Amino acid sequence: MLCLGVESSCDDTALALVRDGQLIAQTCSSQIDLHAVFGGVVPEIASRAHLKFLPSLWNELLAKANLSEDAIEGLAVTRGPGLLGSLLVGLSFAKGLALRQEIPLVGVNHLHAHMLASGLEQELLFPALGLLISGGHTQLYQIRSFFDFDLLGRTLDDAVGEAFDKAGKMLNLPYPGGIFIDKLAAHGQADHFLLPRPYLANTNLDFSFSGLKTAVLQYVKQHPKLILPVMPAMRDFTPSPGPLADFCATLNWTIAQTLRVKTERAIAGYPEYKSLIVAGGAACNSRIRQVMAGLAADSGLKITFPSPPLCTDNAAMIAFLGEKLLRAGFRHGLDLDATPRGKAIPDDYQQVASC
Ligand code: KG4
Ligand code: ZN
Repeated sequence: MLCLGVESSCDDTALALVRDGQLIAQTCSSQIDLHAVFGGVVPEIASRAHLKFLPSLWNELLAKANLSEDAIEGLAVTRGPGLLGSLLVGLSFAKGLALRQEIPLVGVNHLHAHMLASGLEQELLFPALGLLISGGHTQLYQIRSFFDFDLLGRTLDDAVGEAFDKAGKMLNLPYPGGIFIDKLAAHGQADHFLLPRPYLANTNLDFSFSGLKTAVLQYVKQHPKLILPVMPAMRDFTPSPGPLADFCATLNWTIAQTLRVKTERAIAGYPEYKSLIVAGGAACNSRIRQVMAGLAADSGLKITFPSPPLCTDNAAMIAFLGEKLLRAGFRHGLDLDATPRGKAIPDDYQQVASC
């Protein structure tokens, strides 16, 4: 089945075509430059940019794939969680096309799609423990199949990507700060005792990164020389060794070790796991990758990371999971609604015979 994926949950507008689990073509327009000046995503600007970018991305996608829209057999669209206005732009686009082409439509849970994105590149082994670390979410899942997820733990406040980005803002690094902290960290030495590993003195699988944010703020206030006097341009940012690189290495290490403790606890709670899947934008982080690969090896699990372009928001992951859902007979009507961040995604599929 040739399936179109539509992603517009936050600040990336993306379209992709997947057939039989293989990526055929994709187009994406990032809005980072539009939001960088505000140091974070501005919802109103994001919705308008999706509306503006979608028509040209659509033409570009068909040209890249050398296909006409008549070839598309199914439509998958991110239904949430995300920014409400942004989601509605993608949903309206997908519904219009589904109506015009008379093809089936399915709404995709953006977080589940992140978790399964690496299925485009390698076989996924279930049951899997899934660790999602993105700009908006930090969650642990038990994943028993492409359609069977149980949420084991989540962040009570900031997400991992948010913790990186807020620290980056305090240090006057370009937005989003996570990648620049990681680049600097490669040139620094981590201090294992400087920052607290937050919310570990409990027996649950939840996370909390707000205390770490406060600790970073206090340390930076006491050491103002760490703050870059002028924010470097994103393109000519050149990391070098020194106290800032050491501090970034410390932050990288602290976050990676905090994630390790809870992930290890989840593995211990269910010996049947065959793999550990780590996904979301912060899964690009080099220290987190190293620590999680070590944990999986120690636990006898296969480690699975998406390649960096599939870690951050993309439409290939939406089309990939969407094709699986459509083939299994899951559908939505044109009354499919968007679910904003913080609200549970309803289990409201219509079921038809699988194809
Ligand atoms: O998955 P994503 O596109 O966002 C959401 O769907 O929420 O991930 C974006 C996040 C940003 O917070 C960004 O700073 C972070 O991923 N990120 C990183 C790295 N690359 C991207 N964080 C730490 N280290 C990196 N190398
Ligand atoms: Zn995302």
